[in-house]
Amino acid sequence: MIEKQQRILTGDRPTGKLHLGHYVGSLANRLRLQETYECFFIVADLHTLTTRPERERIIESSEFVRELVLDYLSVGIDPEKCTIFLQSAVPETYELNLIFEMLVTVPRLERLPSLKEMAKAENLDAMPFGLLGYPVLQAADILLPRANLVPVGKDNEAHVEVSREIARSFNRQYREVFPIPEVLVGEVPTLVGTDGQSKMSKSLGNAIYLSDDPKTVEKKVMKMYTDPKRVSADIPGTVEGNPVFIYHDAFNPDTAEVEDLKHRYRKGKVGDVEVKRKLGEALNGFLEPFRERRASYSQHPTKVDEILAEGTRRARGVAKETMENVRDAMGLFRLNP
Ligand code: TRP
Repeated sequence: MIEKQQRILTGDRPTGKLHLGHYVGSLANRLRLQETYECFFIVADLHTLTTRPERERIIESSEFVRELVLDYLSVGIDPEKCTIFLQSAVPETYELNLIFEMLVTVPRLERLPSLKEMAKAENLDAMPFGLLGYPVLQAADILLPRANLVPVGKDNEAHVEVSREIARSFNRQYREVFPIPEVLVGEVPTLVGTDGQSKMSKSLGNAIYLSDDPKTVEKKVMKMYTDPKRVSADIPGTVEGNPVFIYHDAFNPDTAEVEDLKHRYRKGKVGDVEVKRKLGEALNGFLEPFRERRASYSQHPTKVDEILAEGTRRARGVAKETMENVRDAMGLFRLNP
C-alpha cells in the first residue's frame, strides 16, 4: 500500500438507497480520491437523529446502514484502501462534539439557512438544540480523524466552514491539534430526474437506483420525460436539456451512437422508443459491474458487517489518539488509575 499523506473525510446519512445522482455527484469523485488520499467514509447515523429522533425512524435508518455500505462497495469503494465506519459506534464523536459546542456561538449557527430548511422540511415548529448543533457534530466527524480535505455537495459547504472556524478556534485557544480542513465542492451539476425535474431525488420519485435490476431500469427509462413538443417520431426534437440525452451523455460510452441519435432526433428521424431502448441498454451496461459486486457481497451476508466493524475499529483508533491530544491540550484533569 502506498503511503498516503493527506486525509479525507466525507459521508452520508443512512436515509435511503443511493441513485445515479449520488454516483455522478459524489461517488465517482470518491472513487478517484481513494487512490491518492487516505479516505474515511462515515455512515452518519447520529446526524439522522437531528430530524428523526423517533424510534421507528431510527430503526428505519439503521436498516439503511447496511444498504449504504453495500452501495459504496458495489460502485468500487475499496475497503482495502479506505475506512468505512459507523458514526454512532465511535463514542469519541459525542465527546469531541461537546467540547466543540464551547467554541461556537448560537447566532453563528442560527445564520445557517440549511438548518432552518431542514427544520421546515420536517415540519418542526421550533429548532431542536441538536439540529442547531448539526454542523458542530459534523465538525467532530471531520476533525476526529484530523481530515485535511472534505469533499461535499454545495449544500454542505457552509457546514465545513463552521468546522474550519472551530478548528482555528481550538488551535488558538489551546494548542495546534487540528489541521484546517479544506472543502472540495463537487463541480458536477446535479443530475436531472427521470421526470425532467431539476434534481434526481428519492422524495420526488424520479430516481434510478444503483441497486435497480435491469427490468426496473428499462421501465423507468421508457417512462422518462423527453421533449414534450414531439408527439410523433417525425417531428424535429430538442436535444439540449432533454433528460434522455443528458443521461446518454453521462452514461453511454458509445459516443458515436449518441451523436447519431442526437442527429436523427433533431431531424425528426428517430422515435423516442429507439432513443430510450438504447439508453436502457447503456444504463444497464453501466450498472452491470455494480450488480456483480453487489451479488458477490450478498453471497457472504456477514462480509458487509465485518467491513463496517473493521473500519469502525480503525476510525476509533485514530479518534482515541486525537482525544488524547485534545484533553492534554485543554488541560482537562487526568485521572490516574
Ligand atoms: N451532512 C452530510 C449530509 O448532508 C453528512 C455528513 C455527516 C458529512 N458528517 C459529515 C459529510 C462529515 C461530510 C463530512 O448528509
